[in-house]
Amino acid sequence: MKRPVFAANWKLNHGPQEARAFLQRFSGLVAPRADRTFVFFPPAISLAVTGFALRERPEILVGVQNIHWEDKGAFTGENSAPIARDAGAKIVLVGHSERRQLFGETDEMTSKKVAAAYRAGLTAMLCVGERLEERERNTTQAVVVRQVKAGISRLEPSQLASIAIAYEPVWAIGTGRTAKPEDATAVHSAIRRTLKEALGSKATEIPILYGGTVNAENVAELLASPEVDGVLVGGASLDADGWARIVQT
Ligand code: PGA
Repeated sequence: MKRPVFAANWKLNHGPQEARAFLQRFSGLVAPRADRTFVFFPPAISLAVTGFALRERPEILVGVQNIHWEDKGAFTGENSAPIARDAGAKIVLVGHSERRQLFGETDEMTSKKVAAAYRAGLTAMLCVGERLEERERNTTQAVVVRQVKAGISRLEPSQLASIAIAYEPVWAIGTGRTAKPEDATAVHSAIRRTLKEALGSKATEIPILYGGTVNAENVAELLASPEVDGVLVGGASLDADGWARIVQT
């Protein structure tokens, strides 16, 4: 089995001071472990503090939640991949459903953002997931496969090999509803088939995470599916003690 990935998406929570306090507490509770990978996506403004707080923990990956697809220029309010890298990021979350729903991000934009991350020497975690009406119309797999294909469309195979995918059904994010492990498994299998079409057998190495109301009660059951390689967690990653318990599941 691949080592499971535990990724914390703090969204718009934890400024620099809170991030520092969280990470001091978390590092004291969770020793380095070779059998799992930890990732933090703080708000961009807390990125440098996060990196500094984890300077003794180089095994923990730190990333940003969003980038612009251009490297620099007159784009007031944006962050870019080279700037994120300069501030310590190793990975970029791209295409989170909140970006798609609230900020009008399209498949074309996610594809340009993924390409920008790799151009700067970062990797990406591409988020995909269907809305409730798409699930009810039985178009879940079609939607997710379309999002994956678009998101990876500008990558060379050598770049694609280091991507991560997060399947997050929109109706499960922050709602208290979680996909049943068998539903997550079916969608993860469809994603894996799509990755294999692009990359062949090496696609088995790409981690496919599940996200959407993951918490201490359901994480073990979700990770028990051989198709679920990790979890991307919002709400339940905001408390250091709670998150320390979840990542040691
Ligand atoms: P949630 O968020 O765990 O609060 O549902 C997950 C996410 O949006 O990545």
